Amino acid sequence: MRIYHLGGRLFESVTHLLTWGRVDRFKSELVEKLGVRPGDRVLDWGCGTGAGARKVLPLMNGRGEIHGVEIAPNMLKLAVARSQPSPDLKFSYTLRNGFDLTLAEPADVALAWHTLGVLPGDLSARGVEEIWMNLRSGGRVLVTDMYLPETKTRWGAIRKSVARFVARNFYHQNFGGSVLPNLERYFETVEILHRPNLMAYAFLGRRRDEPLEALRTS
Ligand SMILES: C[S@@+](CC[C@H](N)C(=O)[O-])C[C@H]1O[C@@H](n2cnc3c(N)ncnc32)[C@H](O)[C@@H]1O
Repeated sequence: MRIYHLGGRLFESVTHLLTWGRVDRFKSELVEKLGVRPGDRVLDWGCGTGAGARKVLPLMNGRGEIHGVEIAPNMLKLAVARSQPSPDLKFSYTLRNGFDLTLAEPADVALAWHTLGVLPGDLSARGVEEIWMNLRSGGRVLVTDMYLPETKTRWGAIRKSVARFVARNFYHQNFGGSVLPNLERYFETVEILHRPNLMAYAFLGRRRDEPLEALRTS
């Protein structure tokens, strides 16, 4: 059973309990590095309950656009309920599969937080391409995902097995390892950060301005 269909509040509570809020603090730290500016158009791919907006809005100074796409209605409901638009701040949350997306205007910044790694099979490559296609030239991207860090202690190995079981069965995390290599094909790396205690990494990058065909085969 995917936790995403059970309700946004349940997803948030369980995730907070499992990580003691540290994933949330990691995201705050990352957004500072991303350098979101007032007036930016922000794409939040797989926006869930709107974590992206919560983190970037303090940096936008009441100006800009948030475009969230999300496939699970119970997650998106909460994002919509929490949005507070104003004349200079537009929210556009869409219930849809994130593929075949065409924003009216390309985004300045894209977020995909713990989303590409939950896509089945090879779809993460398509997800990366989707983000690339909806970003402006030179646009910035911030992706977070899970990985399985090396462990040296018995306790570390047990903890990792339990976390992997929960992530696979409740969050549909696939640990396929293809997200990062695909990101590196479509985006120049600005920084990659690893947090082994959260089994999470973050990729900060800038859109490569090469033809799509060249990126696909690079
Ligand atoms: C682990 S949650 C992360 C949610 C949010 N980004 C956050 O940081 O809290 C992954 C989200 O990706 C969404 N998702 C999965 N596949 C999707 C797809 N094909 N298109 C859009 N959203 C998708 C799920 O429904 C879920 O809300």
